[in-house]
Amino acid sequence: MTRKISIAIDGPAAAGKSTVAKIIAEDMTYIYIDTGAMYRAITFEALNKGISLEDEEALNMLLKDTQIALIPKNGRQLVEINGMDVTDIIRSNEVTNSVSIPARLPKIREEMVKRQREMASSGGVVMDGRDIGTHVLPHAEVKVFLRASVEERARRRFEENLGKGIDTDLELLKHEIALRDKIDSEREAAPLKKAEDAVEIDTTSLDIQGVVGRIKELINERL
Ligand code: CDP
Ligand code: CDP
Repeated sequence: MTRKISIAIDGPAAAGKSTVAKIIAEDMTYIYIDTGAMYRAITFEALNKGISLEDEEALNMLLKDTQIALIPKNGRQLVEINGMDVTDIIRSNEVTNSVSIPARLPKIREEMVKRQREMASSGGVVMDGRDIGTHVLPHAEVKVFLRASVEERARRRFEENLGKGIDTDLELLKHEIALRDKIDSEREAAPLKKAEDAVEIDTTSLDIQGVVGRIKELINERL
């Protein structure tokens, strides 16, 4: 039997991480872990409960009481908070534009990383996020850092929204994505950064299958 490895996929917003991570996990019958969904879930819960996104102690207490489950179902990943389905609501603009604030807090990250490492403890995982290769799974056998120009990333989100019947302002999207990248890259605790041993892939002019193909080559080299 082929041994089960860990695959870390990092990069800025809308670089294509979750799309390619899901395809690879499904192909390999690995577990897909969307760590961004976990930060989104606690942000949603805090907004819902009226807890300040800057109050590290209060958020930490809230997180300790909040079970966040990532459940694969029909090719999608459902997200539940204490048994309640929040899959769609955690993608709202309000959550998207706030999530980088609590994600800066060291205690929140510490608890998230603990949970993420537990989920990955048996190997056979594809995990995507910002600090997977640098911090969560520093020994992952395959590490990839996806990039794309901010214009292309905004265009992708614009198209994605259009597909859902949502008309968005492309310039505003570009601005929001750039701001989130800036906060994620400049925070002290495990910032968004390419791990030294990660392979960088610029996806600006690659389609999804092109990116998946490149990552599969890297996986095959390691297996
Ligand atoms: O899908 P998108 O790239 O827009 O974002 P996401 O992966 O759902 O992550 C949402 C936010 O969570 C990021 O902008 C980061 O602030 C935070 N995050 C993080 O700090 N560390 C991770 N490993 C994953 C996400
Ligand atoms: O997870 P992350 O925020 O990095 O990005 P994503 O949600 O996987 O991808 C954002 C959008 O870009 C999705 O609608 C993908 O279908 C699209 N995409 C693309 O057009 N070309 C790629 N090479 C990768 C993703």
